[in-house]
Amino acid sequence: MQMLITTPKRILPVLALALLMLPAFALPVRGGDSMFVQEGKHLYSRICAGCHGDVEESAKAGRSMTRIRSALRIQPQHRSLATLTDEDILLIAMALRESEE
Ligand code: HEC
Repeated sequence: MQMLITTPKRILPVLALALLMLPAFALPVRGGDSMFVQEGKHLYSRICAGCHGDVEESAKAGRSMTRIRSALRIQPQHRSLATLTDEDILLIAMALRESEE
């Protein structure tokens, strides 16, 4: 609960949406990945892999959504990525969590 209280307001709709869609999307489909993770890997490959390596061997494996969000704000090399939505970041974090295991 502590996490929910300190979470910025604009992320709550995304979390609510993610929870609502969870039953449909969290089920593993082809290749054992959920649709969330598949979409996250797709985004990562397109946007992040050029600098941080393929998702399976990413230098950023296991990074949380919070950590990615602040890195995108702070790191000057991320400037072109400022338009990424919270939903995109959440999906990328899910893909990076998967690739850490
Ligand atoms: C133009 C190159 C570039 C792109 C594209 C890029 N990054 Fe980075 N990123 C960097 C650099 C440089 C750093 C700082 C050095 C480091 O930690 O690797 C960094 C740091 C980070 C950090 C903080 C440090 C850490 O290890 O936790 C995270 C998290 C991160 N990037 C995630 C991402 C994600 C996710 C994407 C795609 C949405 C992305 N980056 C796209 C260049 C890039």
